[in-house]
Amino acid sequence: MPREGRAVPDATASSGVHGSGTQPETGAGRVPVLGRPGAERGAVGGAAEVAGRARRGGLGRRAESLAAAESGPVEVVAHRVGLAYREHGGVCHALRDVGLGLRGPGFVGIAGPSGSGKSSLLYLLAGLKRPTTGRIVALGREMDQLSPTERCLLRRRYFGFVFQQPFLIHFLTAAENVVVGAPRRDRAARGMAEALLGRLGLAGCCGRLPHELSGGQRQRVAAARALMNEPRILFADEPTAALDRASAEELMGLLHDYRHGHGALLAVVSHDETVTAAADAIVRMWDGRIRAIERPG
Ligand SMILES: Nc1ncnc2c1ncn2[C@@H]1O[C@H](COP(=O)(O)OP(=O)(O)O)[C@@H](O)[C@H]1O
Ligand SMILES: [Mg+2]
Repeated sequence: MPREGRAVPDATASSGVHGSGTQPETGAGRVPVLGRPGAERGAVGGAAEVAGRARRGGLGRRAESLAAAESGPVEVVAHRVGLAYREHGGVCHALRDVGLGLRGPGFVGIAGPSGSGKSSLLYLLAGLKRPTTGRIVALGREMDQLSPTERCLLRRRYFGFVFQQPFLIHFLTAAENVVVGAPRRDRAARGMAEALLGRLGLAGCCGRLPHELSGGQRQRVAAARALMNEPRILFADEPTAALDRASAEELMGLLHDYRHGHGALLAVVSHDETVTAAADAIVRMWDGRIRAIERPG
């Protein structure tokens, strides 16, 4: 989960990004949009189908107001965002004037040294934190113009998030923890949870409590939970950090299958170059800024 801290206005927000020619311009209208070129997904159905899907997703009567998020491009854009914290009497700038757009379907990696702002950027894009300066537009919606309830519904229906720590509910079994991520907790959800766990090599662990699982197994349960609502955008913060090589490959295999099968956008923070090697683009962070954007291959 995001660490607690008090956000303060970012005095350096308009300072721009400095450095080599590979750096993106971050002024309004010059936001680099990453993803597979020309890979924009069209509308998925008419208004009735959209509202129906949104209702089934638990949006209820707010379905209409969030319908654009269902049918538009899979895209999240940060417009000159800054994130600052007051800390020990000073100010810590976790992010400074970052402009970036991610478009699905595709896979974008976010890399950089510890403390460079990777998690902060992911939390802002996913709507888990609000920027001190700048704005986020996710699935066509200005995050700042949504009510807290709408923001929560948007995240719940369209986003999945795999945290660095699994954050499982200690008194629920593995399968029950996965079902928690479903819009409806019915028999079908239970079946889907068991199938996802099976795909992650955890078929025999469905009935186990978190303390009966290894660290790697717990993280795979958390990944399965994030896929239960079939998100349009899946965010993952160092998802393989606690896994051995085989488990890491299994987990990334599942995430790739998911994004190919669902036309989703996968945004993964990772130190591990073998994880980001398959990315369509890699955003390299340094000291709260984007240092470079690479497009492997
Ligand atoms: N809640 C917080 N309170 C104070 N400082 C924070 C908080 N969260 C992050 N920071 C600081 O912001 C900077 C970027 O942090 P983070 O985004 O977690 O980096 P990374 O994920 O690249 O390691 C670091 O200097 C970190 O100490
Ligand atoms: Mg981090």
